[in-house]
Amino acid sequence: MVTLSEPSGRVPEIAEHELFAPSFFDDPYPTYAALREHGPLVRLAGTRSYLVIGFDEAYHVLRHHERYSSAGERVIAGERGDAAAPDRVRLVLITDDPPRHTRFRGLVNRAFTPRRVRDLEPFIRGVVERLVDAFPRGGADVDVVGALTVPLPVTVIATLLGIPPAEGDRFKRWSNALIAAQQGAARRAELMAMGLYLMGAVVQRRAEPAEDLLTALAEAEIDGERLQDWEITGFAVLLLVAGNETTTNLIGNMLNVLAGRPALWERLRADRSLVEPFIEETLRYDSPVQTLPRIALVEETLGGVTVSPGTQLHVCYGAANRDPRTFPEPDEFRLDRELSRHLAFGSGIHYCLGAPLARAEARIALEALLDRVTGVSRGAAPAERQRASHIVRGFQHLPLSFRV
Ligand code: HEM
Repeated sequence: MVTLSEPSGRVPEIAEHELFAPSFFDDPYPTYAALREHGPLVRLAGTRSYLVIGFDEAYHVLRHHERYSSAGERVIAGERGDAAAPDRVRLVLITDDPPRHTRFRGLVNRAFTPRRVRDLEPFIRGVVERLVDAFPRGGADVDVVGALTVPLPVTVIATLLGIPPAEGDRFKRWSNALIAAQQGAARRAELMAMGLYLMGAVVQRRAEPAEDLLTALAEAEIDGERLQDWEITGFAVLLLVAGNETTTNLIGNMLNVLAGRPALWERLRADRSLVEPFIEETLRYDSPVQTLPRIALVEETLGGVTVSPGTQLHVCYGAANRDPRTFPEPDEFRLDRELSRHLAFGSGIHYCLGAPLARAEARIALEALLDRVTGVSRGAAPAERQRASHIVRGFQHLPLSFRV
């Protein structure tokens, strides 16, 4: 399935269509392992783009933002050009380089400190308990995607932003449209609807301030200047996609690991100090964010490949986290590793803003299940991986059977 050729020296290649094969979506790790034998960078056949699959090389790119820019495609709906026009949606922060990134990040850091997240924990616990208590009784299988992993982060982010949680279904559709690989009129229409909805919410907060993040951003200043409506909208869109899909997939990937390992469930129930290492090892072993792009600004040799200004690099966090040079026996799920090294939340200036929140949601969800359930196994219907996007890795359906 993998095409290995050596067009310029020893660089392995993969054809783009191979990345869209169902088997790759179901389990990309054997492909990465086979490619890694030939080098830490893999060329996308017929392009100037590379996948960065080695840990050291991915780390190098992430830590050198002055050599590898995040400012790629910004306008995600509407025509290119004036990003401030109301029918356009432009991501901010994650697609900004310094100095703009530094200023915006300084502003929003305050909303996501570990202390802020601790204050949110009782609310998160309430949402988790309501969802878990609504699981069907009498031993019926539960598709945890619809019952827990999607509604939990959507409710948390919507509440943080100050948007009624009842809008959750629409949020989920928009966030799916954002990460979908397929372009098209339907996707564009969803993204426009999302931009207009959020822009309307920002305008409303300027008129009627409330106790929420949208209002805090509407009132915040960078270097004495207020953020513009489109900037706040772009940040709200980023939170929507960065905070939902990712956390959904982390919790699903955790439960998938546990469904295949009954002894591990027992261990976690008996010793709750293992919950945090378990979450970290899941982040490494099956990373919810698999890849994001950078553009090289300089010429340098990386993993034996000469990259030059304009070369596109897809940093593959999930592949880097399975690099045997950094994680011995990387395909084994183990709690006794040096887990703080994984790249699942990135590294450097773009390190995930929501990491404390994601970890808290995952921990609270798992603890609620460990409190109530003696064992978890796969349900009768097969689990299905999502196959719409390479950026994230998680489940479309994950039916599980819980023993109480
Ligand atoms: C398990 C869940 C999550 C994973 C695996 C994850 C992963 C990541 C990764 C890999 C990056 C780095 C992007 C880069 O290198 O360009 C990132 C950035 C970011 N994440 Fe997360 N994320 C998660 C949850 C969240 C949550 C819950 C939020 C918000 C509430 C969030 C907000 C952000 C933001 C705003 C950025 C951009 C930071 C910047 O550019 O300075 N993420 N995330």
